[in-house]
Amino acid sequence: MSRRRWPQMLVLLAVVVLVATGCANDAPLDTLEPKGFFSEKIDGLFNMVFIVAIVVFVLVQGGILFIAGKYRHKGEYKEDDFPAQVHGNFTLEVGWTILPAVILAVVTVPTLATLFTLTDEPDGDFNDCITVYGQQWWWAYDYDVGCDGAEGDPPDIRTATEMVIPAGEQIGLKIASRDVIHSFWIPALNGKRDAVPNRVTNWNTHANEPGIYLGQCTEFCGLSHGVMRMHVKALSADDYEAWKVEQMAPAAVPTDEAALRGREVFQAQCASCHTVREEGGTGNASASYAEVAVARETSPVPLVNGMAPDLTHFAGRERFLAGLEELYFDIDGDGFGERDQFNRVALEQWLRNPLSIKEMAPDPVEIPGSDIPKGRGMPNLNLSETTIDDLVEYLRTLE
Ligand code: CUA
Repeated sequence: MSRRRWPQMLVLLAVVVLVATGCANDAPLDTLEPKGFFSEKIDGLFNMVFIVAIVVFVLVQGGILFIAGKYRHKGEYKEDDFPAQVHGNFTLEVGWTILPAVILAVVTVPTLATLFTLTDEPDGDFNDCITVYGQQWWWAYDYDVGCDGAEGDPPDIRTATEMVIPAGEQIGLKIASRDVIHSFWIPALNGKRDAVPNRVTNWNTHANEPGIYLGQCTEFCGLSHGVMRMHVKALSADDYEAWKVEQMAPAAVPTDEAALRGREVFQAQCASCHTVREEGGTGNASASYAEVAVARETSPVPLVNGMAPDLTHFAGRERFLAGLEELYFDIDGDGFGERDQFNRVALEQWLRNPLSIKEMAPDPVEIPGSDIPKGRGMPNLNLSETTIDDLVEYLRTLE
C-alpha cells in the first residue's frame, strides 16, 4: 500500500469500528433503551443535554473550520501582516463569558429536577418494603410485606439474585451492603446506587412492562466483581401477589426418593451456610430466619458476612450463580425461561466445582474482630456424581 493511502485506511477502519460497535441488538445493559419511569427520566435528560452539546459542538467546530478556511495563509507573507486585535473588546469578552454560563444554567435546571425525582419517595401504591443487600459476590433481597415489620425482624420473603416487583408500580428500595462497597444497577430501570457498609440509602425502581431486566454490580468489590450480576423480574400485579404467597410458604418436603437423599445431603453439607425454610424446621433447615442468624453467629461457617443465598424457593428463580447462569433456558425469547428447559449442566458443574466457574476465596482466614476464621464464597465439597444428581433433584423441588 502506498504511503498516501494510510490516512484513508485509518478513517475507514475508524468508521467500521464505530459502526460495528454501535449496532449490538442484544445489549441488555443498554442505558439508551429505558424500560421504566426513572430510566426514561434519565434518558430524557440525556437527550436534552446531548442536543445542547451537539448545537455547541457544531457552532464551535463550524466556526473554527470556517475561519481556518477563510483566513488561511495564501502564499505571500509579509512581516507586518497582522490581524486586527480584539483584546479588550468589551462586548466580545462579556458575550463569551455570559453565553456559556447561560447554557450551563439552562442544563442545570432539568438536571437537578431529575436528580430529585430519582431519589424522591415514589408516589405509587406499592406497600411492601424491599431492602437490597450487596455482599461478596451476590445480591440478596429482603421483603417486608406490607411494610409492617419492626427493625431487625426477620423478613417475610428473602430471595437471592432475583428481585421480583409488580410492573407499572414505582417502588422504593433501601440499598445496603454486608461487607464492602458494591453498586446496584439495572440500566433499563434506573441509574446506579452504591451499596455502602453501615449505611442504608434510598433508591427507586419501576418497570413499564412485565419482563426480565438484567443488571451488574458496578463498584469493584473483589475477585468476582465482574460476575456479580442481578436481575429484576417484573410481573403483572396478580402474578406478583401470587408470587408473594408462594414465597412466604415454607418449602415442601419432597416425596421423590432421589430428592429425599438430596435433602439429607443438603442438611449435612450445605445448611451451615444456605437456608431452606421448612415447616417446623426439621434438621438443619430452620423454621425461622432469626434462628438461622443465631446459629451463624456461633458456628464456624465459611463465610465472612455469615450469609449465603436462601434457597427455600430456589427453583422458582430465572437465574442462579449470582445471575451468571440461566436456571431455565429462554427458548421463545420473552425473557422468562421455559420451565421444562432446566439448565442441569450448569447447576451440576456449579456443585461439582464452584471455583471452576466463579473466583472466590472459601478457605478460612483470620478476620479482624472475629474469633472464627472465615472465607467467602462456596467451597468445593468434592461431592460424588450420584450425590450431585440427588442434590439437583432436591433443588428442583424447591419451587
Ligand atoms: Cu459487588 Cu462489584
